[in-house]
Amino acid sequence: MSELDKTRREMHAVLQKPGEHPDPSLRLSRRTFIHKSCLFGAASLAETFGWWPIMNTMEVAQAAEEPFSFAWISDTHLYPKSVNTRFVDKITRAAKEVQAMNPPADFLIFGGDIAQLGRADELELGNEILKEVKIKKVLIPGEHDWYFDMGKKWTDLYGQPNWTFDHKGVRFIGLDTVTHGPDYWTERHFTPEQRMDAMADLDGSIAGPWAGVGRDQLDWLQKTLSSWDKSKPVIIFSHNPLYEYYPPWNFWVRDWREVNDVLKPYANVTNIHGHVHQVLYNEIGKMRSIGMLATSWPWPYAPEGVPKLTKPMIRVDPGDIYDGVGWSKLTMNDKSKIDTDYVMWGRKEVFVQSPADSSLYSQEILQPRMADKIGPY
Ligand SMILES: [Fe+2]
Ligand SMILES: [Fe+2]
Repeated sequence: MSELDKTRREMHAVLQKPGEHPDPSLRLSRRTFIHKSCLFGAASLAETFGWWPIMNTMEVAQAAEEPFSFAWISDTHLYPKSVNTRFVDKITRAAKEVQAMNPPADFLIFGGDIAQLGRADELELGNEILKEVKIKKVLIPGEHDWYFDMGKKWTDLYGQPNWTFDHKGVRFIGLDTVTHGPDYWTERHFTPEQRMDAMADLDGSIAGPWAGVGRDQLDWLQKTLSSWDKSKPVIIFSHNPLYEYYPPWNFWVRDWREVNDVLKPYANVTNIHGHVHQVLYNEIGKMRSIGMLATSWPWPYAPEGVPKLTKPMIRVDPGDIYDGVGWSKLTMNDKSKIDTDYVMWGRKEVFVQSPADSSLYSQEILQPRMADKIGPY
């Protein structure tokens, strides 16, 4: 049996454990509506940028102490400027728009994959551009930031990959879902470049089910939450979604059941995540999860497993590099609700309006990639 087949078999064993799937009866209903006025009363701003706020709203058990907003940017996948400036231009635009928010955001969360190949110059370039944003910034890593030098440069720049702070009645937690991957490189004698390349393939299987929270961090999460009132809002930022969406692309964390066990006692948990580069919405038990746009490119929806509660995003124009991408404003308002506002550049309608708008309407069949069948290593 080849190494690749062995890895596939191991991955299959992890993915197909009994009891894998969430109980659909635990799902709550969602109220979604398109709000065709602007959150911040700035109609002219909306016309300039060509977007309408899209709001996902859900009642929470207890309001934040006062209304406030924060901004999310992620998945900028920067190459050095000498390779291309396309992605540089888009993170620069997002940073400027976040800084121009009026009223200002209380902080910016950067949700991972700032770099494409984890090189020091890519990470430094991102760090320089984010200096444009003068408000408080917090960051979590993506797999593209980590597996070239195993997080050395990222931690030099930003410190611990997991953290917590309280803000206006909400406990915020940054969770690291990328650094607990299995060792797929030592036996294969991979160079750092090969290790990163294997991790950077969305549909590659060499790195296996790398997304996970890990036992130590689960204990830390439990301890962090133990001092928090169970009815008060908790917002958890993670790079990967904290449920099982599509494991072959690591659109999950492999220990999502343990994560859910830790979160179960808390009445009002929101997980906001990157990595999927698409509009996504799910609820499991009392936790809801919201997928964020990338600034770099939109990934297609997975061939299966898209949460039923997702109102799909529009199929984008491949000729327009600003289509299907952007950043997000998130608001805890004074009516006990939290709103997500996708800022998708160049689009007035973010959600699909007709079957032709969405790739979800076409049947897709998952097959191994040609590259994996040949195997470069
Ligand atoms: Fe990404
Ligand atoms: Fe990612």
